[in-house]
Amino acid sequence: MTRRRRIYEGKAKVLFEGPEPGTLVQYFKDDATAFNNQKRGTITGKGVLNNRISEYLMVRLGEIGVPTHFVRRLNMREQLVREVEIIPIELVVRNVAAGSLTKRFGIPEGTALPRSIVEYYYKSDELGDPMVSEEHITAFGWATPPDLDDMMSLSLRINDYLTGLFLGIGLRLVDFKLEFGRLWDNEDMRIVLADEISPDNCRLWDVKTNEKLDKDRFRQDLGKVEEAYQEVARRLGILPEGGPGDLKGPKVMQ
Ligand code: TMP
Repeated sequence: MTRRRRIYEGKAKVLFEGPEPGTLVQYFKDDATAFNNQKRGTITGKGVLNNRISEYLMVRLGEIGVPTHFVRRLNMREQLVREVEIIPIELVVRNVAAGSLTKRFGIPEGTALPRSIVEYYYKSDELGDPMVSEEHITAFGWATPPDLDDMMSLSLRINDYLTGLFLGIGLRLVDFKLEFGRLWDNEDMRIVLADEISPDNCRLWDVKTNEKLDKDRFRQDLGKVEEAYQEVARRLGILPEGGPGDLKGPKVMQ
């Protein structure tokens, strides 16, 4: 086993130095946290499933012209990605009221929003990811107005595309969180989609029953958490061949 340099460890993923300059290996853990680390647990097989689900969605988005950091999946828990300079803003796109929006504005969960709403949060565990406005983002230099324009238009395209993709498999895309990075090519800079797209950072409800098939099952102690992630992968047609028994995957190389 090769020893690779660990670049960064987050709550659900580890980033290692990649095989070539400008690349990283993104390793998906089974660890789950919620409410900024106050609730912790393990969702067996989550890393394997999120690796596949995120691969699938990033490839589909690449096909419609959305630039992403994704290069290729390496194994059960790892994917090769381009090294980007992460912009410290989490973009949340909402189609239906849920989660913090219901609390902030007293809107009942499940209310269809008059139009898709994009929110910005400053990515800081210490501060608990506070919600911010464009003014904060540009004044503090986290992103420039053109960066924000790119992020906003990419997010809306991603929302349109993923809403349709998930509806096709009987799932309502309630809301989701995206992160973007800057990819430098000599003097040229492009904003690309980074991080992951998976039931960890999307809310997905069954269109017929409204059953939650995402991390809210863990956040709200609803049970059948593993099954929910498996069901999303199954509907996308990408459940690993060995089935649920095959989800443990190789241990992280240290
Ligand atoms: P919220 O309703 O808790 O603000 O979450 C909105 C969406 O963003 C939901 O799909 C979950 C996702 N999300 C993350 O991926 N990471 C986070 O830290 C938070 C707070 C939300």
